[in-house]
Amino acid sequence: MTERHSEILVIGGGVIGLSIAWHLSRSSHSITVMDSSEPGQASQAAAGMLAPLAEASAPGPFLDLALASLRRYPEFVEGVRDASGLALEICGPGMLRVARTSEEAAALDRALEWQIALGLPLERLSGEEVRRLEPAAAQSILAATHSPQERHIEPRLLIAALSAACRRRGVEQISGKVIGLESEAEQVVAVRTDTARFSCRTLVIAGGAWSDVSAQWLGVNIPVTPLRGQILALGPSANPLLQHTLYTHGAYLVPRRDGRIVVGATEESVGLDTSTTAHGIAALRTGAESLVPTLTDQPLQSAWTGLRPLSADALPLLGRVPGWGNVHVATGHGRNGILLAPITGSLMASSILTDAPLPNAFDPARFGGAL
Ligand code: GLY
Repeated sequence: MTERHSEILVIGGGVIGLSIAWHLSRSSHSITVMDSSEPGQASQAAAGMLAPLAEASAPGPFLDLALASLRRYPEFVEGVRDASGLALEICGPGMLRVARTSEEAAALDRALEWQIALGLPLERLSGEEVRRLEPAAAQSILAATHSPQERHIEPRLLIAALSAACRRRGVEQISGKVIGLESEAEQVVAVRTDTARFSCRTLVIAGGAWSDVSAQWLGVNIPVTPLRGQILALGPSANPLLQHTLYTHGAYLVPRRDGRIVVGATEESVGLDTSTTAHGIAALRTGAESLVPTLTDQPLQSAWTGLRPLSADALPLLGRVPGWGNVHVATGHGRNGILLAPITGSLMASSILTDAPLPNAFDPARFGGAL
């Protein structure tokens, strides 16, 4: 069995684990990120929307976190792009949240009343105005909120760039499946895989939908379950059918720069099953065609799934693991891992390095600690 050491060991090589490692890499500590599969498999499945208002139904700590992360995105992308040398950028002219019934239009208007106070530029459009911006949009669209700052990023490129940027800063990234932890007096001193023993001074659990496995070894309650999302790509089409992301309840369309349109996403509680299904794909195609009818002619380019880590109260868990002096957790980002990566990395790095306080709403101890 190989013996290795890293001062800080991050379990989970998805966008959250890598962002934490990236923010920690400005320190002088040795850092290792460990993942059991190809790094960021779940994160790469995402559509990559940077859309706090699409995913939050009311003001509160979650929305504050999401807006703070959106504000950080340009600087985060610039830093990762410069360090990695990869052409990472925030894409598109923003989002149209559309309504197809008078009830949906009234809900958009009610939301706009509190959303407008948040400082993002937002504009109410009629159906005709939507179709002037997006001629392929369905006639059934009655109204929309236009949000030019809620853009998107290509998650595969983000993971590749973050991984390369971390490597350039000396972060080690290794493949390994954790099979157990060693502890002494409320400190984890080592992590074991089937081939190696890694000693560490600080352990960070950022294992997404798999985080509860580490939690069981620690004997703490980290109630995070997988919520499967099936997603597909249509096209590519030589003449792009859309510029904006179109978002509505149950369906969204994200146009990629290569002419494909990403269509998301189902929400299914099926454990760790990552299959796509005929029903899921058909439902996504129906949803997509109800927003842009000409998508019916587009080939199905690919379909895949991602497992979102959904916590029991749908809020992330960020901070120290109760009962353990040197273990931190960052998980439960649900539908918003890509959006929340910059703020999570920054907050967690400050907490780990300087004991800076984290927002109470996300305290992992709220679930009671011990199992
Ligand atoms: N953020 C979109 C989704 O999880 O489907």
